[in-house]
Amino acid sequence: MNELKVSDIKRVTVIGAGLMGAQIGELMARIGKCSVTLVDIKDEFVSKGLAGIDQRTEKFFVAKGKMTSEEKKELMSRIGGTTDMAKAAAGSDFILEAATENIKIKKELFKKLDENAPAHTILATNTSYLSITEIASATNRADRVVGMHFFNPVGVMKLVEVVKGAKTSENTVAATSDLARLLQKEPVVCWDASYGFLANRAYFAMRMEAVQMLYERVAPPEEIDRALKLGYNLPMGPLELADMGGSWAIYASSEEDRIRELGSEKGKLHPLIRLMVRAGYTGGAGKKGIYDFYKEVLSKMK
Ligand SMILES: NC(=O)c1ccc[n+]([C@@H]2O[C@H](COP(=O)([O-])OP(=O)(O)OC[C@H]3O[C@@H](n4cnc5c(N)ncnc54)[C@H](O)[C@@H]3O)[C@@H](O)[C@H]2O)c1
Repeated sequence: MNELKVSDIKRVTVIGAGLMGAQIGELMARIGKCSVTLVDIKDEFVSKGLAGIDQRTEKFFVAKGKMTSEEKKELMSRIGGTTDMAKAAAGSDFILEAATENIKIKKELFKKLDENAPAHTILATNTSYLSITEIASATNRADRVVGMHFFNPVGVMKLVEVVKGAKTSENTVAATSDLARLLQKEPVVCWDASYGFLANRAYFAMRMEAVQMLYERVAPPEEIDRALKLGYNLPMGPLELADMGGSWAIYASSEEDRIRELGSEKGKLHPLIRLMVRAGYTGGAGKKGIYDFYKEVLSKMK
């Protein structure tokens, strides 16, 4: 098999069974009807990913009468998990990497995936910001390495950015775009010459303007979010969404990457984000973010 087509994609491996990997694996099995293997570094992470799929399927499909218990059983029988990445890669037509956002980790992973996967297998990454071309340079199949960027929550968000590295082949882009369509998503193709690709790059600029307005005390966070929601029909404001997803911590830990890609003027961390993350206001599940930082600290500063 030389040029992979979407109809050839039967066995999918997802690397990283965390927030995104488990949801993507679920979609590949449920809608794509593929047999899916989730890979992570520890058995407990794999089990947690599989348990999440089981719970979501029960809550959103079986309990709502959209799937029978037998259909759920059949679905779950097509999803497995392992920590043996080499073995999983060897039996895959398509590999989607959704491991931790770190270039060193991703390059090491892609080197191993390239060594173990069959020649026809496409290696895709769900990276939000890292260079596809740099990740592909760790392999001997740069033509079959591509970005396939899903958005959270994966079951709801329609967009998948298909990102072409410098050497990604047109066939790889076509097969990956067709796979996104098969999963009932809308692929948008772009070049790997943009930090944050399309959606995150533009959204980041808007969110930083919102942070700057808060820094200047133009209005409290609720009001800034309300203006953007009402003015642009956004379901959530950029500040509350970052609090929910933990984006502040991610921005703080990726400052070096941003400066490298965008230069210091655009890449430098906003001082307000630096201050709040240092004080423990990182956002993310169960953690305080910019709303609490404003209420507890910023609004009291003279
Ligand atoms: N969180 C989001 O909203 C979002 C949206 C789009 C894209 N992404 C991207 O998806 C990727 C995963 O993000 P996430 O939010 O799911 O992170 P996460 O921390 O929830 O999950 C990452 C998983 O990768 C595992 N992992 C780390 N190194 C590994 C290795 N060598 N082999 C196998 N597994 C390994 C970790 O143990 C963890 O379970 C990142 O590249 C991120 O930028 C995230």
